[in-house]
Amino acid sequence: MPITTCIFDAYGTLFDVSAAARQAAQEPEFPQLKDSWMQLANQWRLKQLQYTWLRAVVDAHADFWDVTQNGLDWALEATGLAGNDALRKRLLDLYWELQAYPEVPAMLKALKAGGMNTAILSNGSPDMLNGAVQSAGVGDVLDDVLSVENVGVFKPDARVYDLVGERFGCSKDEVLFVSSNGWDAGCATGYGFTTAWVNRAGEPVDRLPWTPAHILSDLTSIPDLAGV
Ligand code: LAC
Repeated sequence: MPITTCIFDAYGTLFDVSAAARQAAQEPEFPQLKDSWMQLANQWRLKQLQYTWLRAVVDAHADFWDVTQNGLDWALEATGLAGNDALRKRLLDLYWELQAYPEVPAMLKALKAGGMNTAILSNGSPDMLNGAVQSAGVGDVLDDVLSVENVGVFKPDARVYDLVGERFGCSKDEVLFVSSNGWDAGCATGYGFTTAWVNRAGEPVDRLPWTPAHILSDLTSIPDLAGV
């Protein structure tokens, strides 16, 4: 079946999750981030994701905002930055206005001009996602923003991927699913979507039972892959 529906992961895929720590590191109030912002950003992201997987496995769902704060608190302590309330608050505030990657607006516009359905499918809570979409100014080129809060479990549970067919009435083989998370793209392949992994950092392929159909270095070729 031709692709009719392009679905995007949010954090790390459309929105740059490192941007919060990178930006705070440039602000004069936070000189302690100058050398450690990248380590902090990586540990924050890794713990945030680990907590989503663990919560899904033990059936203890929490809002992604809670999990994001838990991950940050672990990462601040691990990098010796715990106890700085102003820094913690600034990093969390910046998470609501993450920058989109530069190619995102034109890529989404091309998909819409080609008649594609477009949406986000994310672990993020509806409030967080709306904040990021508004701040990036891409609301008018997305048909919907689908949050795991509709099913109360995190990716890669199949109930999350089911939200796409329920929303757009499409079959799995009409969907191009795009994620910067290798595990998300791999598991979505297992679910039945055609997948593209945006591997900006040149990481190894995750050793899972399924692999992404396409591996890209950024999002510019998505309209071509979708056939528009
Ligand atoms: C999301 C995370 C996994 O947006 O990046 O769902």
